[in-house]
Amino acid sequence: MRVSNFAVAAIAPLAFATQVAIADSHGKAVEYRQAVMTTYGWNFKPMGAMVNNKAPYDAEKFKHHATDLAAAAHLDLLSGFPEDSEHEESDVKSEIWLNWENFEQKYRNFQEKAAALNAAADSADLDKIRPTFGATAKTCKDCHKAFRE
Ligand code: HEC
Repeated sequence: MRVSNFAVAAIAPLAFATQVAIADSHGKAVEYRQAVMTTYGWNFKPMGAMVNNKAPYDAEKFKHHATDLAAAAHLDLLSGFPEDSEHEESDVKSEIWLNWENFEQKYRNFQEKAAALNAAADSADLDKIRPTFGATAKTCKDCHKAFRE
């Protein structure tokens, strides 16, 4: 009796410490994936304004954002989604880890469309750029609809 109480008393803080460590590592993953998303949004929004005639089209500025979005699309986003890393600071749906292949596929679609948008930005022709922008926007929405609260 005494021994097992002692054992529990000795192990409990360790178990607690382990849980905190896991929660902390997920905290970093959450920060990372949200930072990557912020980087997407930072570049995507001003392009959207130009595409939707809410801001004057500036070919150089547009190309800069398209290049940075395509570069950000090369960051290893998936490593920011370790298994079951739901977190109070996060808007993920647990479906991500139940449908990992689908999540990955949606991510690959985004990467492809972001590259196509970057290529189209070279034309400096909004009529050519617009459909590639729309296709990229669709990949953001597709993933958010399925996997984000
Ligand atoms: C493969 C899926 C996927 C794709 C593609 C995707 N997102 Fe996300 N996005 C998410 C998930 C999941 C979250 C929630 C992350 C969290 O809170 O942990 C999120 C969150 C965000 C956020 C909020 C970040 C924060 O600080 O809470 C922004 C902004 C965002 N996405 C922008 C974009 C834009 C813009 C695109 C397209 C150019 C995009 N995302 C493409 C899955 C995706």
